[in-house]
Amino acid sequence: MYILGIETSCDETSCAVLRDRDILSHCTLSSVKQHKRFGGVVPEIAARRQYDYIDTVVRLALKKAGVRLDRIQAIGVVNGPGLVGSLLVGLNFAKALALNRDVPLLCINHLYAHLYAAFLKPKRPSFPFLGFVVSGGHTHLYLVNDFRSIRLVGKTRDDAVGEVYDKIARQFGLGYPGGPCIDKLFDIRFKQQYPFRCGIFLQGFDTSFSGIKTAVVYKKESLEKERRMPLGKEEVKKILSSFQESVVTTLVKTVVQAAERFKTGTIVFGGGVAANQRFRTVLHEAAGKHGLKMYIPDMAFCSDNAAPVAGLAYELCKSGFTSSLHERAYSAMPLSV
Ligand code: KG4
Ligand code: ZN
Repeated sequence: MYILGIETSCDETSCAVLRDRDILSHCTLSSVKQHKRFGGVVPEIAARRQYDYIDTVVRLALKKAGVRLDRIQAIGVVNGPGLVGSLLVGLNFAKALALNRDVPLLCINHLYAHLYAAFLKPKRPSFPFLGFVVSGGHTHLYLVNDFRSIRLVGKTRDDAVGEVYDKIARQFGLGYPGGPCIDKLFDIRFKQQYPFRCGIFLQGFDTSFSGIKTAVVYKKESLEKERRMPLGKEEVKKILSSFQESVVTTLVKTVVQAAERFKTGTIVFGGGVAANQRFRTVLHEAAGKHGLKMYIPDMAFCSDNAAPVAGLAYELCKSGFTSSLHERAYSAMPLSV
């Protein structure tokens, strides 16, 4: 079965073609450079670029796959959560294709697609599992029985983890997106230089990252005030390495405790922050120490990409599920599914 996937939830315009579970092509254009000077994504710019890029990206993906449009048998598209202006471009494009080709449309949840990215590897996770989405917009912990039965068991009470990376990087003049910049700066010698702490809640598995964001910015400002000059590279490294270590430790601790509580030995990660090198290393160590099976997507599929969208569409289609052509785009995540 040939499936075409489309993902336009934020600043990436992505299309992929799969034959069953095999990725034949994936192609992504990004407007990230046009947001850099604002220190974050500007929804209006993102939506306009989605409109400019969508046709090219879909054509390219089909060409790279060597598959003509008339051979596509199902279309998967992300319809939320995300930026509604951006989502509408992909959703309407997908609806028009589905209607024109008379093939099923499958509306895919952006966050579940992040988790499905780990299923694109040859060694696939087994159900049930704990799914942890760590991205620019979400820090959501799920108990996943299968992709049609998912329960939210924890989330951030304020900023998403990637959002905090981006906001802190902006304060340090490191550019956007902040995650990869801070990841590159990380120096293990300084991982506990400053005692920054993230919030975890005793009841349940919620987290909080806005406190650490303020603490990091205050530390920078107070040191600059004390020294009466901007911080040097080494001092910046000390602060940001301590920040990253605290974030990574909190995420890992949360998920290990949840695995104990829900008695599941399988954990699946997804979202841009799952590309973080330190996070991947600490997860690997924790998996060994606690006897857990952890599944992290390949780097190329941590961030927004249409390949997992097409993959999840294939699974749902196979189990008899299709979406209505009246489905809408939505910005916030419904609490239960
Ligand atoms: O999943 P994603 O591409 O888009 C959303 O759904 O939000 O995630 C983007 C987020 C950004 O906040 C970015 O700073 C963060 O993922 N990110 C990282 C890394 N690469 C991307 N955070 C930490 N370390 C990284 N290496
Ligand atoms: Zn995403």
